Amino acid sequence: MHAAVSSDLSTLLAWHLAVGCDETLADAPINRLATPQPVVPAPEAPQMPRAPGPTRPFAAPPVAEPAARATTTAASARTATPSPPPSRPATPLQPLSRNEALAAAESLAAAAVDIAALDAAIRSYTGCGLKATAINTVVSDGNPASDLMVLGEAPGAEEDRRGLPFVGASGKLLDRMLAAIGRSRETAYISNVVFWRPPGNRTPTAQELELCLPFVLRRLELVRPKVLMIAGGVAVKAILQRSEGIMKLRGRWFTHSLSDGLQIQVMPTYHPAFLLRSPIQKRDAWRDLMQIQVKMQD
Ligand code: URA
Repeated sequence: MHAAVSSDLSTLLAWHLAVGCDETLADAPINRLATPQPVVPAPEAPQMPRAPGPTRPFAAPPVAEPAARATTTAASARTATPSPPPSRPATPLQPLSRNEALAAAESLAAAAVDIAALDAAIRSYTGCGLKATAINTVVSDGNPASDLMVLGEAPGAEEDRRGLPFVGASGKLLDRMLAAIGRSRETAYISNVVFWRPPGNRTPTAQELELCLPFVLRRLELVRPKVLMIAGGVAVKAILQRSEGIMKLRGRWFTHSLSDGLQIQVMPTYHPAFLLRSPIQKRDAWRDLMQIQVKMQD
């Protein structure tokens, strides 16, 4: 009898995990269809101290850490993005049509005159349905004045909990990859092409990517990195708008043109999460990183 109950519970828990319910957000369920809408107190995104990542297999060669590029923007005064405020919406998301949601994203992004305004615009945006299930809006980490920017796909569970990109297992590998070319979170700038965690870590849909893209492109306009490293096929496709897969695109230089004609050098490479699953591919990722290191020194 006892064994039967515990096996039923395990089956139930396994089912919840399979459908993406892998977070407990409150002690009791909230009926979001009831009126008036209960206001959910936003959980704080605790800022955990970052442990230095192990040095292998992406052990940093003895290269001096390049200084971040000097800029005249207010953002350059910061060496790291401050803790983001939690972003669980207190009001229900507006039911916008796809066109309305896209137009809202485009106009909010265009109006952002600096990184702080852009981050605030993304946090205020309610057009992307992913926001309803996420704990936090995850925008960026690192130094927005850096000449090296990294774009990943979307926050995972740990990133969603902490409100920062790449702080889970794949983030630790990304730290080691950056260390391999003498960089760190303080001398690079990290963001994603989607700002809310897709439930169960599923791949973001084309529409979710489309709605986040105006903010991503605006970030590139504001940061103006010399080199953009894009991790993983989903993010590469979103930025380069190419049909080939990551296996074909990685290791090759592309350019992304800004509105004033500045050309950002773009290097697609494997996503750290893929490298954790397929460590044999680290050899190629290493080559991509070496190319980035050389380009940064040009
Ligand atoms: N994977 C990503 O692409 N981005 C993150 O922030 C974390 C995991």
